[in-house]
Amino acid sequence: MRKLGLLLTFVALAAAQPSARADDWSPAQIDQLRSLWIGGLPPLPPDPSNKYADDPRAAEFGRLLFYDKRLSSNGKVACASCHEPAKAFSDGRPVARGVGVTDRNAPTIIGAAWNGWYFWDGRKDSQWSQALASMENPLEMNLSRDKALGVLRRDPDYRRRYRAVFGDLPGAGDVEGVTRAFVNIGKAIAAFERRVAPQPSRFDRYVQARLEGREPTKPGEKLSLDEEMGLRAFLSVEQSQCLRCHNGPLFTNGTFHNIGSQNRQAANSEDGRAIGVRKAMADEFNCLGKWSDAGPGQCPELEFARVEGDDLKGAFKAPSLRNVARTGPYFHDGHVKTLDDVIWHYRTSHGAPLGQSELEAATMTGTEFEQLRIFLNTLDSPAPSGVGPPRRGG
Ligand code: HEC
Ligand code: HEC
Repeated sequence: MRKLGLLLTFVALAAAQPSARADDWSPAQIDQLRSLWIGGLPPLPPDPSNKYADDPRAAEFGRLLFYDKRLSSNGKVACASCHEPAKAFSDGRPVARGVGVTDRNAPTIIGAAWNGWYFWDGRKDSQWSQALASMENPLEMNLSRDKALGVLRRDPDYRRRYRAVFGDLPGAGDVEGVTRAFVNIGKAIAAFERRVAPQPSRFDRYVQARLEGREPTKPGEKLSLDEEMGLRAFLSVEQSQCLRCHNGPLFTNGTFHNIGSQNRQAANSEDGRAIGVRKAMADEFNCLGKWSDAGPGQCPELEFARVEGDDLKGAFKAPSLRNVARTGPYFHDGHVKTLDDVIWHYRTSHGAPLGQSELEAATMTGTEFEQLRIFLNTLDSPAPSGVGPPRRGG
């Protein structure tokens, strides 16, 4: 993913300036369009740290767990409470609310299986270890490992499903066994999350028509003139810079950047990736730890993670822009309300409250910025099938 991102940035940099005529795409621009197209999404990357990642029984079990509110101290919070299918698997709130109120915006989980790092600061290196953190977080599900297992023990269907994939549940006094089973719950949920894949948007069908060398004329594949002009602005690295960080079929390079996105009104400055990477290295549930199924050499992300560098300070993960019209409010702390406000940030923000912003002044007119925002709405797509709330029983 990382290498792909670099390559795509290169392709992007090599591209020509946008031209005014909507039906006139240069070969370099066609290459750029292909690089963002969902048809170019690489196959789901394997997760060697989770040997159940592609086990369908684990995924079905994980789907039930993802929607199960019993997995919280007050019985009211499931993963899906903050990652709702109808809201592109986010929650529509500035900051997420579970058992308590967090200080972070809930990102979408669509396409998250392609990520190398999880959370805005990348303090987790797998989806299963991420899931364990949400369950244990006192502000999210506030669930102890024992209580999580209690839910499984009391539900005959869960007991059966657990045994079919992982073997017998441990006894209550078996601390090691309880942690192992808790880890397995995370691995089942992660197996389910791998099915939450991005779907084709109008943008993708537009690109497909262009790649086939025809004019996009059908309703689901047409872009308005403003949308098309916004797309041109998006592709023009010199003007908008967007592709530097939002590239590839998921519209992200998967890495961390300081764009001065901290709330200047907030009392605390946020270290972002500078702390996140250290947390990931120290995490008992990371790819190199005893609960991981990875063999030697199978954790390159963690082994080669960069832990030093001024650029990590105040840096957050560049999120995917797919479905972005439905994932607001925006940025890691949700302090930016609308897409208009995000665009305003890119128009006006130079410098950062902490560390150094990587953003350079964009050279676009107000109209072009507005068209850019209009274009972002074309990245919307329906939820994938088979990942909604399951019907219980059987
Ligand atoms: C109280 C709301 C809440 C609940 C419940 C919750 N999440 Fe989240 N989720 C969040 C927030 C907020 C973040 C970002 C936190 C951060 O970066 O510090 C997040 C981040 C994530 C991410 C990282 C996505 C990425 O690209 O980095 C994944 C995956 C995820 N959650 C899955 C889950 C799963 C699985 C569960 C259930 C075990 C769960 N969440 C429960 C609010 C919630
Ligand atoms: C230097 C890298 C970089 C560049 C260039 C960049 N972005 Fe971002 N973008 C980020 C990062 C990092 C975040 C997350 C910031 C945070 O959460 O604090 C982000 C967040 C966003 C979000 C909010 C998404 C969400 O779910 O919260 C949108 C929308 C967005 N960018 C669009 C754009 C557009 C449009 C451009 C071009 C004008 C652009 N970005 C240029 C790195 C970049």
